[in-house]
Amino acid sequence: MAEVVFVDSKAAAGTLAAASIRALITQKPDAVLGLATGSTPLSVYAALAASLAENPMDVSRVRGFALDEYVGLPADHPESYRSVITRDAVVPIGLTPENIQVPNGDLATIETAGVDYEAAIRAAGGIDVQILGIGRTGHVGFNEPGSSFASITRIKTLAEKTRVDNARFFASPDDVPIHCMTQGLGTILRARHLILLAFGEEKADAIAAAVEGPITSSKPGSVIQLHPHVTVIVDEAAASRLENLAYYKYAWANKHAWQGI
Ligand code: F6R
Repeated sequence: MAEVVFVDSKAAAGTLAAASIRALITQKPDAVLGLATGSTPLSVYAALAASLAENPMDVSRVRGFALDEYVGLPADHPESYRSVITRDAVVPIGLTPENIQVPNGDLATIETAGVDYEAAIRAAGGIDVQILGIGRTGHVGFNEPGSSFASITRIKTLAEKTRVDNARFFASPDDVPIHCMTQGLGTILRARHLILLAFGEEKADAIAAAVEGPITSSKPGSVIQLHPHVTVIVDEAAASRLENLAYYKYAWANKHAWQGI
């Protein structure tokens, strides 16, 4: 069962996740982080940056793999996930840019990009902690409904709903690419710890399906139920359709501090 943790703000979620990442880096200075883009993880990256500014530690050996990338956007486009992850995470946290990999969305090499990315993750020893958001379609990464639980990094077609959601980052909805390269659900399952964050009522259905719904590729977030170490960090609105709320709160309130998340 996923551990479900309630927070009253995005900042509190960021602080909790950042403390766990910091503890990981303390133990393993070349830890491998799985980095999501979008709005959800911003508080995590901001909290980690703030914690490091206040109490510095060497993060120069930390490595990272982005979850996904648009296909066909030049890497230097401001909304390519290479640009976004650099702006939102690499620069503020002070990670070493050469240590951060992003799936290659270049059409010229698209046929081998997925297999190459999987090989790079394997060569790094696998991902220690994967930060995840969730889409209104229930996607994690850009694994839209119907994605195989065994899938690896590959090209996917974004759902119309996802393109509409992401249009806020582009001048026009038509500018949102139709295709992406995304880590697969199988890739995500191989990360050693998953931290899934969600805020707001618009994520409530996706969170309920992921945490308590049947395990089905129609609800890709439900893949987390197959993973032995998952932390779901939610605000009350995103948690509002969970049935087992009282138990999650009781378990969290009675958890030993040494267990971490
Ligand atoms: C981003 C990603 C997506 C987002 C999801 C939620 O790398 O893989 O799964 O996490 O679309 O997006 P936001 O956080 O913008 O609501």
